[in-house]
Amino acid sequence: MKKRYAAALLGTLALDRTSGEPLYRQLYFAIREAILEGRLRPGTRLPSTRSLAADLDVSRNTVVIAFDQLLAEGYVEGRTGAGTYVSATLPEELLTARPGRVVPRDGARHAHNRLSERGRFLAGIRTMSFSEPAPFSPALPELARFPFDDWARLLAKHWRYPKHEFLVGGDAAGYAPLRAAIAAYLGAARAVTCDADQVMIVSGAQQALDLATRVLIDPGDEVWIEDPGYAGIRGALIASGAALAPVPLDGEGLDVTAGRRRAPAARLAIVTPSHQYPLGVTMSLTRRLELLDWARGADAFVIEDDYDSEYRYAGRPLAALQGLDGDGRVIYIGTFSKVMFPGLRLGYLVVPADLVDAFRGVRQIVDSHPSSVAQAALADFIAEGYLAAHVRRMRALYAERQAALLTELRKRLGGRLTVAPDESGMHLIGYLDDAVDDAALSQAAAARGVVVSALSRLYVDAPPRKGLMLGYAGVAEPAMRRAVATLAGVFDEFFAARVDSHSAPRMALEGSHFSA
Ligand SMILES: Cc1ncc(COP(=O)(O)O)c(C=O)c1O
Repeated sequence: MKKRYAAALLGTLALDRTSGEPLYRQLYFAIREAILEGRLRPGTRLPSTRSLAADLDVSRNTVVIAFDQLLAEGYVEGRTGAGTYVSATLPEELLTARPGRVVPRDGARHAHNRLSERGRFLAGIRTMSFSEPAPFSPALPELARFPFDDWARLLAKHWRYPKHEFLVGGDAAGYAPLRAAIAAYLGAARAVTCDADQVMIVSGAQQALDLATRVLIDPGDEVWIEDPGYAGIRGALIASGAALAPVPLDGEGLDVTAGRRRAPAARLAIVTPSHQYPLGVTMSLTRRLELLDWARGADAFVIEDDYDSEYRYAGRPLAALQGLDGDGRVIYIGTFSKVMFPGLRLGYLVVPADLVDAFRGVRQIVDSHPSSVAQAALADFIAEGYLAAHVRRMRALYAERQAALLTELRKRLGGRLTVAPDESGMHLIGYLDDAVDDAALSQAAAARGVVVSALSRLYVDAPPRKGLMLGYAGVAEPAMRRAVATLAGVFDEFFAARVDSHSAPRMALEGSHFSA
């Protein structure tokens, strides 16, 4: 009876001959699922490979391979000369699981209730969203001109003759020659004072922020953030349980006096002094000294997120804040996401000497270090001059692209969007009239494939200015012209709709006036 049932069940399986999945795998999954769902009970005899092959119109070999796999994984057992049986030892009460099934979307609320309180809190933080790389994504460098041949050669070299540590894992602070190359680069280019021991390799600036907040922040600690500021910084801080103390900016950068008023005893300040994100202000030397003075007095730390300082087009770069700190209070963060590409997921921290052990310990808990071979290839890429050459080429290219974007925006959107050149970075801000809903405009543009983030969304407490962020580094000029033309179309529709909605009540009033 059982045997006939199994033959009937399996003999009518629908195998999809058009899918790319081999028939033996389809058969294996189908039988496994029938077992796990309890439709084939422990002890049930399966049909012979020959008869099942005939029923399903497949080769006998297909069935044999599927059975072999089930046998190897313990779902079925063979009794010599007596056929194949669903394993008798499978505990029946556990046989209702459905492996590999995706929880349906409407099950999400149920899943939510099963999270820890902390998990629920973290999953609910929605400060950042991923947008498809499109004009004018702010974080996108030019990808097509990256020297992939050189990069691939360096990767291949290290894979072909891997050091022992590449295979078994190395120091949680990262690959020593890469840390040395970064320390040398930072000393020469950014006047950062550190030795290689203070450099820790991480998976990008975002992980650096997460790590630093784990090491330095307790729930409830106040932290100064720039207002407006980078959503990733906000996200990392909220996750740490910090109490955000948004500090406004002016033409010199972070308003330290306002910060002292708002949260004099804060434990940490996070700033982007080279090129404030998103407004682009360079923090003046006076403000830098004021900030360090506050930190000393409050016994606080400062995180310097130096995310795009390599791209400066005019004027001399100001040295990093870290180089002014004689007191071991500044944690410096850098990333290769802008000078190489964001998918690389490599960045670094420079931590004060007395915090190195604490950071290394916490790093070990998080995930040790990023891929060793990628680190080794990057060390060579820096030491052999490829990175510096690439940055030089990109600096010239991005300067041209910024100029082209300015021209195009002024030509097509001059009356509605106010743009000024920026001495550095990879994006421009186009300011809008304060009455304009920049978030709605940004949404309308996104629907037409143009990514322009709303400036007002980056504010916390300060009165938000309205505007759009336009990343230009990764947008070639023809695509840029097309995207600005599309944006101009979006503006036309958006403002026409606004005029309509503004004039509608007036017309209604006029109507009532006439009918009165
Ligand atoms: C201000 C700022 N900090 C940090 C980052 C994060 O970079 P990463 O890709 O290294 O996490 C970005 C990325 O856009 C950024 O704009």
